[in-house]
Amino acid sequence: MITLGEYIVAKQYQFPEASGEFTRLLGSIRLAAKVVNREINKAGLVDIIGATGEENVQGEEQQKLDVYANEKFKAALEARGEVCGVTTEEEENFIIFNSKKQSHSKYVVLMDPLDGSSNIDVNVTIGTIFSIYRRISPVGSPATKEDFLQPGNKQVAAGYVVYGSSTMLVYTTGYGVHGFTCDPSLGVFYLSHENMQIPAQGNIYSINEGNYVKFPDGIKKYIKYCQERDEQTHRPYTSRYIGSLVADFHRNMIKGGVYMYPSFASAPKGKLRLLYECNPMAFLAEQAGGKATDGYRRILDIIPSELHERTPFVCGSRDMVDMVGDFMQEYS
Ligand code: AHG
Ligand code: MN
Ligand code: MN
Ligand code: MN
Repeated sequence: MITLGEYIVAKQYQFPEASGEFTRLLGSIRLAAKVVNREINKAGLVDIIGATGEENVQGEEQQKLDVYANEKFKAALEARGEVCGVTTEEEENFIIFNSKKQSHSKYVVLMDPLDGSSNIDVNVTIGTIFSIYRRISPVGSPATKEDFLQPGNKQVAAGYVVYGSSTMLVYTTGYGVHGFTCDPSLGVFYLSHENMQIPAQGNIYSINEGNYVKFPDGIKKYIKYCQERDEQTHRPYTSRYIGSLVADFHRNMIKGGVYMYPSFASAPKGKLRLLYECNPMAFLAEQAGGKATDGYRRILDIIPSELHERTPFVCGSRDMVDMVGDFMQEYS
């Protein structure tokens, strides 16, 4: 049994300039994930479900667990001193960590502390997403906005925690995707899924079909394609949509499938946020042999201009993402 900590240390050689800083940074994410996991498991018993009455910068109603997870991840990252700044879904502006140690660190982190807010109160799987970059600004100075507005192809690591029937931490540093399952009695993550691969073709499509009439024609036609009967291509496909990106992505990565959150008239850039939802998932998807696009372009090549900018998102099995692209080309 290999623990997450042992695995990260064993792989440090993959970073030519490894100084242990990155290892400690992942360690702080692991620690906060355990704290959040413990709290999630008590939801219903302690006063942690429901809304706070506040809105975040995206105009979404904040849930108590959104705020709790945000505070715990920020605190863990700040305390260990291995990052010079963070951006999260729940904060309008990026946060600079300015102690001497922090400002001398090389990394910035972008996070969705709690993904799938609408599922908290109903005991359905939720998650955490993170994305790590090497800073552009000089070490020793405060982090700048440019450090956070890098294209996804510059990520040095990305991952998620899925709080499901078991709790897993899945990450990549650009050398494959590796999954670790938490043994709750010990609070230790053990390597359970080394070198995860998304099947090139699957039979699951995941989309909020309640928005069907608003979708671009390419997506509408693709959904109809998924529903048609054809023995050779094993259609109709199965529809599965949890409403937590982390959970939908995780299932599709294991079983094969395509996840879509397209644009529509009232949301021309879709709903999901490029920097801390789509980029990390796109990095993981590609590292597992899958793909991620906005329907046309590779997600990881988009140059961001805003911390909270959104993008349409198509992600998962390579051949399925390609086919959605073909439908978009032809009909949208
Ligand atoms: P968050 O809870 O972090 O705000 O993210 C919500 C996102 C994502 O998790 C999910 O896939 C999507 O919103 C669901 O949106 P719909 O309810 O519109 O389908
Ligand atoms: Mn939200
Ligand atoms: Mn989210
Ligand atoms: Mn969130």
